[in-house]
Amino acid sequence: MSSMFQDLTISDADFQRLVQFMHKTYGIDLSKKRQLITSRLSHSLKAKGYPDFKSFLEHLFSTKDPQDLELVLNKLTTNYTYFLREKDHFTYFQRTILPELEQRHKKDHVLAIWSAGCSSGEEPYTLSMYLKEYFGSQASQWDTRVLATDISQQAMAKAKAAVYQPPADMPQEWLRRYFTRNQTNPNEYTIAPVIRDNVIFRTFNLMDPIQFRLKFDVIFCRNVMIYFDQSTRDALVRRFYDAMSPNGYLFISHSESLGQTPLFRMVAPAIYRKISAPTRS
Ligand SMILES: C[S@@+](CC[C@H](N)C(=O)[O-])C[C@H]1O[C@@H](n2cnc3c(N)ncnc32)[C@H](O)[C@@H]1O
Repeated sequence: MSSMFQDLTISDADFQRLVQFMHKTYGIDLSKKRQLITSRLSHSLKAKGYPDFKSFLEHLFSTKDPQDLELVLNKLTTNYTYFLREKDHFTYFQRTILPELEQRHKKDHVLAIWSAGCSSGEEPYTLSMYLKEYFGSQASQWDTRVLATDISQQAMAKAKAAVYQPPADMPQEWLRRYFTRNQTNPNEYTIAPVIRDNVIFRTFNLMDPIQFRLKFDVIFCRNVMIYFDQSTRDALVRRFYDAMSPNGYLFISHSESLGQTPLFRMVAPAIYRKISAPTRS
């Protein structure tokens, strides 16, 4: 007997079709995630009136209906993130990288920083707070806007709304300076304009060519490539390399590794630096 609470079944062929689609379109490797697919999508498919995965996938692949694409993305991507995540990265950014960039950009006063796979915004807003802290009263003389991109519209909508429950380890001083407590719900806080306005959100698929105007001094791409297979990762790392300024920094998460690459050298745990004249293999 089928019930509201029972997952829909997916045939081997349909599972493979969906896995291939997600891999080709977004780089995401779901080949070992059959259970995740059925558990995360079944409820929404039933609510939309689909009796099984087959009819949903036929509709999705024949129409490329943006709402269904969005549903699949929202359900099958992992958007988990939080403020000050892997805090030692921000300490390195503040103590080592910002003094260096301040020196390097003392003429143009423009920094190019990218949070790639920013999810609901906690990472780029954390960067924005560190930038504000570092430049202080000089901030208005610098262009330190952080580009923040993600493929999930749902995550981006949350990021743009900028309403959060900040974690307990957020410094009280930062909470006071950079957040405003909401009048109607005292558990929620809105990010202050000074931090918010320093982040530019764009929808961007990391599978696409990187064609931004500036070469990046710093790219944060943490907890994103873990969902990709090795060849997708390698190709993205190559595109990051081409999109970075000489000696640029690439941050990945502590649970990831770039492995052996002629393009970057590790300077601290999960922090890499572009090698400007890589040896070709
Ligand atoms: C776990 S979150 C990481 C958030 C943040 N960087 C952090 O470390 O806390 C991974 C994000 O990568 C995004 N993502 C996955 N595949 C993507 C793609 N092909 N292009 C852009 N973003 C992608 C997901 O939508 C998700 O928001």
